[in-house]
Amino acid sequence: VKVPLLKIPFSDEEIRGIQDGIAEVLRSGVLSGGEKSKALETEWAKYCGAPHTISCTSGTAALEIMLRAIELEDTLGTGENEVVLPSNTMVATAMAVIHAGGRIVLADCDRETMQMSVSSVREVISKDTVAVLAVHIGGYISPSVFQLRDTGKNLWLLEDACHAHGAEITSDGKWLKAGSIGDMGAFSFYPTKVLTCGEGGIITIPDADAKWATDWLDQQCGYYRDFCRSEGNSQLHEAVGYNWRMDEIRAVIALQQVRKVDKILAERRQIAKWYDERLEGVEGVQAMKVPDTMKPSYYKYIVFTEQPNMYPVLKERMHKSGVELPGLVYEVPLHKQPVMHYLKSIGRVRYNEEELRNTDWVSQHHICPPLYPSLTEGEVEHVVQSLKKALAKNSLRGEV
Ligand SMILES: Cc1ncc(COP(=O)(O)O)c(C=O)c1O
Repeated sequence: VKVPLLKIPFSDEEIRGIQDGIAEVLRSGVLSGGEKSKALETEWAKYCGAPHTISCTSGTAALEIMLRAIELEDTLGTGENEVVLPSNTMVATAMAVIHAGGRIVLADCDRETMQMSVSSVREVISKDTVAVLAVHIGGYISPSVFQLRDTGKNLWLLEDACHAHGAEITSDGKWLKAGSIGDMGAFSFYPTKVLTCGEGGIITIPDADAKWATDWLDQQCGYYRDFCRSEGNSQLHEAVGYNWRMDEIRAVIALQQVRKVDKILAERRQIAKWYDERLEGVEGVQAMKVPDTMKPSYYKYIVFTEQPNMYPVLKERMHKSGVELPGLVYEVPLHKQPVMHYLKSIGRVRYNEEELRNTDWVSQHHICPPLYPSLTEGEVEHVVQSLKKALAKNSLRGEV
């Protein structure tokens, strides 16, 4: 049995639907800024429970637009305004802060959930902090995400939901989807993500507890997505801007994915259940525990390892039995990235390595077995057998 890193299954019927959609776009002559991206925004807004959404070119663009929309860059452009984010994230979360003109502040995570720790956030907040950027790592939402609002300051709560399409958490008996928890959320449609169109992104603007009118934020995002055009005269550009628009062809693919999101999530959650059942009691590993108050998207299925730095070893051993072990979330935390050392030297990032111990611990103590729609129960069984065999080589008995 061969289990690859990733499969992105599109059925023949789905491919035909996409082909028809693309033909429609080509015949219409409207290849950007047309009905498909509008439909994508409307349907994602409805699904997420966020009244406004804006499509764009990538998750990174979504993050940067979101940070520009809150006017992160202070008027002097000194990059003094700070955004607190977890060190355990992909570099895109941090780079967006730099490009939007702010300073990054790194917070630690909780070991059990891998999500940003509220106590660490409280410790690192300063008078210059304007926003807290929660990253739903692996597609899981922190049980303490709501406490991030109780920092004693009126900060923006932003979500990097690039891993978390359709992930949900309860608040006062009501289920909230990722992207509808904070003031704004950013999603990625990169091929490895839960939904994809190749490259793409979406920003969500929920109204619950929003610091500003959601339509103001909506206008701000549209402004920054499209060259900062003057509201009264689109020929006039008021600030340094970019083109971050999603084209209609990608919107056709993204829309097809959004329409099957529940099916994709049901499949991911079923596969996670198969892993849960089989990994129970396996010596040397412990699947991440998921509380009843949260439904992950299972962008990644996270398994803690008793021993540190097992990923390269297990990857190599499992490869021999036909199983490709996907990457971690994450192997190298931000504070260990060379670019962060440079940014620290010029004062654009603030962190204390000593305070990021849990982040170091989780980066060394987990693996992510393959999880994607179309994976069968038999393949999950094979992955678990292959993992057990790979782990046994480490045991005192030295089994092969
Ligand atoms: C947590 C996180 N945020 C943001 C991004 C950026 O998304 P994109 O690749 O669509 O720019 C990624 C991509 O892997 C990510 O993992």
